[in-house]
Amino acid sequence: MLVSAINNVAFEFASDVRAGLARPGQKELPSKYLYDEVGSSLFEVISHLPEYGLTRADERLLRRHAGEIVQRLDAPVAVAELGSGSGKKTRWILEALGRWQRTFYYPVEISKSALAACERELSDIDSISIVGFEREYLDGLLEVAAHRQRSQHLFVLFLGSTIGNFDRDAGVEFLAEIRKILVPGDSLLLGTDLEKPDRQLIRAYDDEIGVTAAFNLNLLARINRELYADFDLGQFAHIARINREARSVEMHLISKRRQTVRIPAADLRVEFREGETIWTESSHKYAREEVFQMARESGFTCQAQWIDEEWPFAENLLTAE
Ligand SMILES: C[S@@+](CC[C@H](N)C(=O)[O-])C[C@H]1O[C@@H](n2cnc3c(N)ncnc32)[C@H](O)[C@@H]1O
Repeated sequence: MLVSAINNVAFEFASDVRAGLARPGQKELPSKYLYDEVGSSLFEVISHLPEYGLTRADERLLRRHAGEIVQRLDAPVAVAELGSGSGKKTRWILEALGRWQRTFYYPVEISKSALAACERELSDIDSISIVGFEREYLDGLLEVAAHRQRSQHLFVLFLGSTIGNFDRDAGVEFLAEIRKILVPGDSLLLGTDLEKPDRQLIRAYDDEIGVTAAFNLNLLARINRELYADFDLGQFAHIARINREARSVEMHLISKRRQTVRIPAADLRVEFREGETIWTESSHKYAREEVFQMARESGFTCQAQWIDEEWPFAENLLTAE
């Protein structure tokens, strides 16, 4: 039978799709499934869009302050990056570290193609050895921690404000889970996108040429490809909306009409009303002082923060106490 023919990863995908689309009330899909090969490539394009200043702000801060950041670490360190994507911005940190030590760099990625791109991107840095883990964040970090040498500290990177994909409370819980894997003296460099005007945020998540729309719609295309569903992509549209209470931007896919979709590998038939949405991603925005509180609540101290003024964004250096 079809379902038994698919592997474990596909089985988990099918069961998450089933749970998210069969639930009463707001339908939703986990944002991690946005990143297959097509999604990871589209995300890379998004990071170059004029409307999406987040990646450039993050990159500016890393370029300007990498030397100071690495000087604040307890040496020697091994670097683990959660959700590295293409790893382009990480070059600044690895090159700065490479000036005073040979460094192991462990990107942890759920997307096979992003992990391969990251390994290609950074392979020319002489003093770095790259060992990639195609894993979920915490599973990968646990493996990295199991390989650490006695005297070595871990320096964990969680860049690009990926923390914003978690609800605020879940974000603090996630940081606490990271903290449990670390030991005192280890560090975490955390990117956080700061609050900004609604108009700017909506443009960032609903760009003029439709790359973010394609990124979002690709999730339905992926369900068609991998779970043999019959989503008619022309009958869904991408929307970005502000959630004022949550202080986040949400991406949804809205059904343009009443319709039924079949997803055989998830053993599911889903009814959509006209105007009904599937919630696919949240990006929470932060106040700069809020990060100090998040750090405290999760067992870290925020020892330094660097802010980009052009596109309000903070790079935060947290130390495990
Ligand atoms: C928003 S992108 C950020 C990429 C990069 N860090 C940057 O700042 O441009 C999130 C990345 O995390 C990866 N990712 C998402 N969920 C994940 C998970 N649960 N475990 C591991 N990687 C994940 C995605 O494949 C994607 O490359």
